[in-house]
Amino acid sequence: MGYSWQFVLINKRKMAKVLIATEKPFAAPAVAGIKEIIEGAGFELALLEKYTEKAQLLEAVADVDAIIIRSDKIDAEVLDAAKNLKIVVRAGAGYDNVDLDAATAHKVVVMNTPGQNANAVAELVLGLLVFTVRNFYNGKAGSELMGKKLGILAFGNVGRNVARIAKGFGMEVSAYDAYCPAEAIEAAGVHAAASQAELFETCDIVSLHIPATAETKQSINKALVGSMKKGGILINTARKEVINEPELLELLAERTDLKYITDIKPDADADFAKFEGRYFSTPKKMGAQTAEANTNAGLAAANQIVGYIKEGITKFQVNK
Ligand code: 3PG
Repeated sequence: MGYSWQFVLINKRKMAKVLIATEKPFAAPAVAGIKEIIEGAGFELALLEKYTEKAQLLEAVADVDAIIIRSDKIDAEVLDAAKNLKIVVRAGAGYDNVDLDAATAHKVVVMNTPGQNANAVAELVLGLLVFTVRNFYNGKAGSELMGKKLGILAFGNVGRNVARIAKGFGMEVSAYDAYCPAEAIEAAGVHAAASQAELFETCDIVSLHIPATAETKQSINKALVGSMKKGGILINTARKEVINEPELLELLAERTDLKYITDIKPDADADFAKFEGRYFSTPKKMGAQTAEANTNAGLAAANQIVGYIKEGITKFQVNK
């Protein structure tokens, strides 16, 4: 009897605790799938969903070894509060919500799950574009996407999926990516624009798929968007930080032919909302919000945590 108690205690001490911390929750099947993987590995799973205060996150991370997040912010304060933390996996592509330097200083591995929600975001892009060119379904005659020129800024997983679907609509697709060689873009059957400027100047619609980095923040400015043809549409399913909001507002006031469609509510949402019929924002970022994307990204995150804790696998680590 004494032996078995001792065994249980040792086992408990060894068992890793994984927290899902999602202000915007995963679909139920994704949570069930994560639970199966985490518990199947002999770990414990805790769930913090729809939290409204940072204090709730600080309390929940106190004793965990691993955290699965979405756009949830992991900063130095959270890392300080998570004394046992070894790994954070951002179930998704962009990890600008994690303070990588602070994580490295705390010896915490950070990973993302690239590509897992790319199709969901790409489908939303085309859905929003149909909605836009049909005048937000207000009953007035709209236009079609077939034959229109679509410019994709950054040819990563989402950009590639947007190109694939847009070609199905019969659109002429171009892309520019500062980090992807033109040959790789052309190999995907997409015209490689020579520059970001060319993409904006030549396309009817520009879709943003750049991450929020020091280089890209506020880079989508008046000069760039203002170079678009009459009736141009800018669609943003990437990050609000890449937009120079004051300049875009100024431009929309001057160019009454331009439209701005976004999946990430701008800081100046109320000012943009004044451009009725030329501005639309989803109420909450919806790009990756499908059962399939949640399951793909959530399960990948769970497997990456098990792989790291049990075998030290660091594939997809982003703070190397
Ligand atoms: C991503 O970077 O993967 C997307 O922006 C999805 O973000 P979300 O998980 O908050 O929906």
